[in-house]
Amino acid sequence: MSAVTDASGGPVALARRFPPDFAFGAATAAYQIEGAVADDGRGPSIWDTFSHTRGRTRNGETGDVACDHYHRWRSDLDLMAELGLRAYRFSIAWPRVQPEGRGPVNQAGLDFYDRLVDGLLERGIEPWLTLYHWDLPQALQDAGGWTDASLADRLAEYAGIVAGRLGDRVGRWITLNEPRTHAFIGHAVGRHAPGGHGWANGLRAAHHLHLAHAAAVRAIRTVAPEARIGVCHDIAHVIPASQSVDDAGAARRHDGAMHRWFLDPTFGRGYPSDMVEWYSSNGLLEGLDLAAVAGAEPIDFLAVNYYRRERIADVPVTPDWGIGSSVLSGVGESTGNGWEVWPDGLRAVLSRIQAEYGTIELAVTENGATYPDAIGADGSVEDAERRSYLARHVAALADARDEGVPVNAYFVWSLLDNFEWGEGYGARFGIVHVDFPTQRRTVKSSGRWYQELLGAADAR
Ligand code: FCB
Repeated sequence: MSAVTDASGGPVALARRFPPDFAFGAATAAYQIEGAVADDGRGPSIWDTFSHTRGRTRNGETGDVACDHYHRWRSDLDLMAELGLRAYRFSIAWPRVQPEGRGPVNQAGLDFYDRLVDGLLERGIEPWLTLYHWDLPQALQDAGGWTDASLADRLAEYAGIVAGRLGDRVGRWITLNEPRTHAFIGHAVGRHAPGGHGWANGLRAAHHLHLAHAAAVRAIRTVAPEARIGVCHDIAHVIPASQSVDDAGAARRHDGAMHRWFLDPTFGRGYPSDMVEWYSSNGLLEGLDLAAVAGAEPIDFLAVNYYRRERIADVPVTPDWGIGSSVLSGVGESTGNGWEVWPDGLRAVLSRIQAEYGTIELAVTENGATYPDAIGADGSVEDAERRSYLARHVAALADARDEGVPVNAYFVWSLLDNFEWGEGYGARFGIVHVDFPTQRRTVKSSGRWYQELLGAADAR
C-alpha cells in the first residue's frame, strides 16, 4: 500500500516531514471511556447526573459502561502499543481521586492511574495527563460548581494530590480541557453538564476556570518542579460568512469570545478589551474581578484542539448566547456531524498563535472526525473519509512546522469510539471501532493508516 500511496504523499513521505522525536499519539477522556462509575469508591460526577437526567443525552445514553476501559485497560494499552503510539493523552476522573471533590484521597481510585501510567511506560508510551476533562464531582456542583470562586482552591488541591502521586513518572500535564466548551456549552446553553443557562453564567464559569488553571499550575510546580505544564484550548479557523460589515463584526466577536477570551489570559494579558467593552455594555460581567486573570502563571506549552473551519454570521444576541454570532453549516466537505473539513485551518491556527502570542511550544492534543462507520461483511471497518481527514491534517501540521511553528506533538481524537457527551454513542470518532454490546475492538482502516505512519516515523 505504501509504495502506491507514497508517490502521492503517503505515510512514508509524510513521516519524513517530522523529526524523529515527534510525539504522535491518540487521546481519550475519563468519562468517555472508563465506565465502572461505582467501582473502587468513585463518587458521582456532573456527567453521571446529567446523562441520567431524562432528555439530556441522545437516547438517554450514559457513560455507565462506555468502553469499559477501567476493566480493559491492559488490553487497550496492548492495542496502543500495536498501533505504535508514542504518546497517549488521557484524563484523570477527579471523582475517583476525591469522591466528594475535596478532602480525603480515595487511594483505590488513584491506584488505577498509577497502574495505567506504569503500563504506558512499560510499553514505551509517553503519558500526557489531563487533570480536568469536564467531570466535576457532583458534591462540588451542589455547592455552586464553577460559578463559585472557591473551585480554584479545590482544583489546586486535587492537582497537588495527583502530581504528588504521578509527578515522578508523568512529564506532561494539561490542567483543563477546553474551558470554553465547558463554560459555554455546559453553563450558558445547557447542552453539556451541568446544564446551566445564561451567557453571564457561562462567563462566570470561564472566569473561575481561568483562576483554577493558574492555581493548579502553582500546585503542580510545588510538588513536581520538573513537570511541563500546559492548558488545552480548542481553536477553530474562523471566517465571516459573507463580505458584509455585520458578519465581519460577528466573526471578530466570535473569535474574541471563543478564542481570545481564553488565549489572552493564558498568556498573561488579561481579558481582551474589545470583548470586555461588548460584555460590559450588556451588563454581563457584573461581580467579576476581571483584573484577577491578568499576569497568569507562565505555562510550558499550549495544547491546541483543532477540528474545523467556522463561517460566522451576525444574528441577534440572546440570553444564552451573548455574542450575536452563528456558525453556519459548511459550504464544502463536512464530517458526519456537519463540521466543515478545512485542513489548512490547522496550519493557519498554529501559525496565528505564534504570530499573535509569540513562540511557545505547541501540541495538537485533539484532531479527528466522526463518520457513520459500519463493520463490513468481512469484519473490517473501511473508514476512507476519516483516513483522508487525518492524512490531510497531518500534512497541514507538517506545513506549520515548515513555516517554523514549534509544534511537537499530535494526538488523534480518538483512540476508541466512545461516549460523545450529549451525542451519546451516536458519534464515532475512534480510529478503533468499539462494538458496545460486546466491547469488541476493531482497528479501522484509519487506525491501520496511522499505524503505518508511525511505523514509518520509527523507521527513520
Ligand atoms: C472535544 C472534546 C472531546 C471530544 C471531541 C469530539 O471538544 O474535548 O472530549 O468530545 O470534542
